[in-house]
Amino acid sequence: MIIIEQLTKVYDSADRAALDGVDLKIRDGEFVSIVGKSGSGKSTLLHLIGAIEKPTSGKITVDDFDLTTASDNDLSDYRGRKTGFVFQSFHLEPNFTVYDNIRLPLLIAGIPYGEHKERIEKILEKVDLSQKINDKASKLSGGEKQRCAIARALVCDPPLILADEPCGNLDSENSLKIMNLLKSINEEGKGVILITHDKEAARYAKRIIELKDGRIINEIS
Ligand SMILES: Nc1ncnc2c1ncn2[C@@H]1O[C@H](COP(=O)(O)OP(=O)(O)OP(=O)(O)O)[C@@H](O)[C@H]1O
Ligand SMILES: [Mg+2]
Repeated sequence: MIIIEQLTKVYDSADRAALDGVDLKIRDGEFVSIVGKSGSGKSTLLHLIGAIEKPTSGKITVDDFDLTTASDNDLSDYRGRKTGFVFQSFHLEPNFTVYDNIRLPLLIAGIPYGEHKERIEKILEKVDLSQKINDKASKLSGGEKQRCAIARALVCDPPLILADEPCGNLDSENSLKIMNLLKSINEEGKGVILITHDKEAARYAKRIIELKDGRIINEIS
C-alpha cells in the first residue's frame, strides 16, 4: 500500500510548487493512470513515488517504509527491490546488447551471476524479444526498445511498475503492444502506475487520477 499525505514538491529556483499538497492511497496490485496537462506535476509525482526525487514536505510510505525519512542507502535498496521504471525515451545503454541492458539491474541488486542468463531469457520471452538478445540496443526499433526497457524494469521482479509516457514515442500498433504488456503484468499481480496523455491508454487502468497545477482535481474509478 502506498500512502501519500500532503505531498509537496518545490524545485529549487521554481516560483510555484510542482506538486501541491497531494493526498493519495494506492493499494497493492492496482493499475492507476495519471493524466493532466503538460507541467501539471505527473512526472514529479511518479519520481517521488519511485524515490528518484525527494519531496519538499509531506509524507510517502510504501508498505510502512517511510520514503521521506529513509537514508539514501535504504532508498536505493527500495528503488531496486520495489520499483521498475519505464521512460518515454527508453533510457537504454545504446552500445550495450539487449542482454547486457537487462542484466544491469541484476548486477546492481547483487543477484548471483549464475541466475542471470535464465532470468533474462525468461523475461525476454515474456516481452517477445528473445530473438534480439544479442543485438545492440541502438539497433532496435522504437517498439523493441520499449519492450527491452520493460524487460529491464521487470527482471528483478519488483511489485510496482512506474511508467512515464511509455508509448509517447511509439506508433499506434506498438503502443497497443506495450499497453497489452502492461495489462498482463498487472493481471499477474504487479501494481502499475502509468502516466499518459492518451485517453484510450488511460482506460486500461481501473482508476484514473487527473492532476492540474500540482493538485488532484478529478478521480475516475
Ligand atoms: N528538475 C526540475 N527543476 C525545476 N522545475 C522542474 C523540474 N522538473 C519539473 N519542473 C517543473 O515542475 C512542474 C511539473 O513538472 P512535471 O515534469 O512533473 O510535469 P508533467 O505533468 O510530467 O509534464 P509533461 O506532461 O510535460 O511531462 C513544471 O512546472 C516543471 O517546469
Ligand atoms: Mg512528465
